[in-house]
Amino acid sequence: LEIYLVGGAVRDQLLGLPVTERDWVVVGGTPEAMLAQGYQQVGKDFPVFLHPKSKEEYALARKERKTAKGYKGFQFDFDAKVSLEEDLLRRDITINAIAQTRQGTLIDPYGGQRDIQQRKLRHVSPAFVEDPVRLLRVARFAARFADLGFEVAAETLQLLTSMVASKEIEALVAERVWAELHKALITNTPMRFFDVLHACGALSYLFPELTPLANKQHPLRKSLQLAVQQQHAAPLRFAIVLAVTGTDLSALTGFCRRYRVPTHFQDIAQLVAQYYPLYKCASQLTAEALLRLLEKLDVLRRPQRFNDFLAVCDCIAEGQQAEVTLQSGNLKAYADVLKAVPIQSIVKSGLQGKALANAIREARMQALNLQITDKNRR
Ligand code: CTP
Repeated sequence: LEIYLVGGAVRDQLLGLPVTERDWVVVGGTPEAMLAQGYQQVGKDFPVFLHPKSKEEYALARKERKTAKGYKGFQFDFDAKVSLEEDLLRRDITINAIAQTRQGTLIDPYGGQRDIQQRKLRHVSPAFVEDPVRLLRVARFAARFADLGFEVAAETLQLLTSMVASKEIEALVAERVWAELHKALITNTPMRFFDVLHACGALSYLFPELTPLANKQHPLRKSLQLAVQQQHAAPLRFAIVLAVTGTDLSALTGFCRRYRVPTHFQDIAQLVAQYYPLYKCASQLTAEALLRLLEKLDVLRRPQRFNDFLAVCDCIAEGQQAEVTLQSGNLKAYADVLKAVPIQSIVKSGLQGKALANAIREARMQALNLQITDKNRR
């Protein structure tokens, strides 16, 4: 058996990046030979095996042939005669199509090293179009490697454009779109993902709600970059992107339903859509309105969610530049005031039910009022 390291591990090593996951390809192997050597088969119609010790993935060299439109339309040809070059030819982009022997020799029939030098994301062959996820992958790699200077090659952008025009893109399934969007969000330049999609016409097809972001002057672009600088987690970045839909909750929920976005992503985006307008004018709110807002944000029971909300709002506000002042400081101070209200002493007074709830509310309102007057005096 000939065994080669392939894909992301070779690419990242050549780029001087840390290698987290290693994929191997086996030439001249059969499922029987792999099983006989103690490898464990995973997946039924896909010949991938786990190494008995390292548990790394070993795939038999294969050629993919298109049999029908879309995802399931592949037939895997993985007989022992498939060569390394044939296996590399069916891969997405040249920098992902370099193999390395155990001794460290590189096998690079499609110019992967040249494209690493020229910082190009270039498709390996016309077979690229057979898997529509690759369109998203290219956009994602553009986002991930933007700070290394990588760009989509002109001919590849043309190919992506043709995949949209030919409706090949319709075969994308929700889970894969979400998976790629999620991975793009955690890169250092997530906006690049959307820019590449816009450049090939896919943005208005996949995410029509987000097309305003293609305008280079859009303030949320800056907000998103601020979130990256502040190392905010993916759900917060998602909330910033989706803030483009403003207070239109139906657009937001429609998007989340379409791509089966996990609820903790949707939750923070929804909070922002509903309460950013109040965040903006927090310093002008009455005690009553403040209390209602802090209750809606469930600040006492869910402090982390409250902080996430504020972090997103601060990024959005800062993206607008001079127009709004950041309100997280104010709102945190008000939340601290609420926390400090001595509930126990009210409970001890013997009140119950609705009367108790009213008394607590009244005490909180008074405390907020005090803080507001105090602040105005300063
Ligand atoms: N690949 C492909 N087309 C796809 C998915 C994967 O050609 N739609 C090939 C590429 O050669 C890729 C390899 O399979 O390098 C492994 O894929 P994957 O693990 O998804 O990505 P990596 O390139 O390893 O990148 P990452 O660091 O994101 O895991």
